[in-house]
Amino acid sequence: MTDLEFPARFLWGAATASYQIEGGVREGGRGPSIWDTFCAAGGKVLDGASGEVACDHYHRYPEDVGLLAGLGLNAYRFSVAWPRVMPDGRTPSAAGLGFYDRLVDELLAHAVTPVLTLYHWDLPQALEDAGGWPARDTASRFAEYAAVVHDALGDRVNQWTTLNEPFCAAFLGYGSGVHAPGHQDHDTALVAAHHLLLGHGLATRALTEQARPGHEFSLALNFAPALPDGSSPAHLEAARKFDGIHNRFFLDPVLGRGYPADVLADVAHHGGRFAASVRDGDTDTIAAAIDWLGVNYYAPARVTPLADPLAPSNCPLPALRGLDVLPAPGPLTAFGWEQAPGTLTELLRWIGARSGGLPLVVAENGASFVDEVVDGRVHDEDRVNYYAEHLRAVHDAIRGGVDVRGYFAWSLLDNFEWAMGYSQRFGLVHVDFETQRRTVKDSGRFLGRVAKANALPASGAPAEGVGDPRA
Ligand code: FCB
Repeated sequence: MTDLEFPARFLWGAATASYQIEGGVREGGRGPSIWDTFCAAGGKVLDGASGEVACDHYHRYPEDVGLLAGLGLNAYRFSVAWPRVMPDGRTPSAAGLGFYDRLVDELLAHAVTPVLTLYHWDLPQALEDAGGWPARDTASRFAEYAAVVHDALGDRVNQWTTLNEPFCAAFLGYGSGVHAPGHQDHDTALVAAHHLLLGHGLATRALTEQARPGHEFSLALNFAPALPDGSSPAHLEAARKFDGIHNRFFLDPVLGRGYPADVLADVAHHGGRFAASVRDGDTDTIAAAIDWLGVNYYAPARVTPLADPLAPSNCPLPALRGLDVLPAPGPLTAFGWEQAPGTLTELLRWIGARSGGLPLVVAENGASFVDEVVDGRVHDEDRVNYYAEHLRAVHDAIRGGVDVRGYFAWSLLDNFEWAMGYSQRFGLVHVDFETQRRTVKDSGRFLGRVAKANALPASGAPAEGVGDPRA
């Protein structure tokens, strides 16, 4: 059997996010973000953890870039901290921009393509105080911030992603409240979702106007394919509802299809302010042309209808009243997430078809497991297999005609996993949070080899010697 080759110029990378790795929260004039405030409030994050130090990447970025390049990866997806670049959310800081200036130079010196995300959830606290994403003005502030970063780095960065996972920023931040800023109001969350998407559209428009040849624009959405736990009409209806609010509510307006009518009907009973927040022209703005879509995929959701549609659901979104999400069947990751690589193939096919062939990049995919450093090595066989299976799934989609242009592992480093603190290790590189010592895991070596070969061993299993600690 021959190896499974990937298309030429495929982006092979790892992803991170500013608040999850940088630390240095008071350095270079950085202002507070909603995540600093959320963590400081206590009781919201496991073990009282915060991103105050995280991976100390603010100081150790040369080592981290060296590790990524040393693995053989050719791209790095990172996010810019808005409060570092604009401490009050509005006024540019030369010191803050300087950090990303140095980071980008370091990446280019190692022949690594920078893929820059403008917003991975760390809103400047000053803008939250002014109303946060539920305030329309935040969308305009975001477009201004995007232009500032683009002015500073557009001479060297070609790949621009506006938002990471607006679903989480809106529904976890303002609806269920398990993420910063921790508000719990579902009507407000829908308004926040609209303003996030509006911000994406305004920023994409602004950057497109000042684009240089080679610049590409995108955003990254998180998808949770809904798998009905049965084939009755009630099961299919439960899956439709889940898919609607989780996937299509964000995808469709970006693709120029507007908000899906069925989801608008689902949220009508609690979305009064949402309907009022959508103004004439907004859907055109949100549909600003993008060059590719970032697909973040971890696991499907197994959904089942509740016999009594008014019974409390285990799913906090009111749009999901009447259904439950079932415990995932194995095999699971340490987070309890189902490992279902075949679902990734289906998802890429579905998005490819729905978008009329828009290029796709798997912008996040990965797994947390319990890792141990033994004699300076981490033999994370589960994660090696996870990557092998999911890469095979991506290859299946490509072979079926889907235009997939890159794959980013989540994550380069073990890091601050939001409400779960430091309890979930997702890295290709292990981080000892006491000493900040980095140790490349077997999975990092494996992915690096696949990247260098631009091919996955045909068996789908790790290539011989992949786990060889001397490699
Ligand atoms: C995604 C987030 C990322 C990380 C992974 C595990 O939803 O974008 O920051 O938390 O999940």
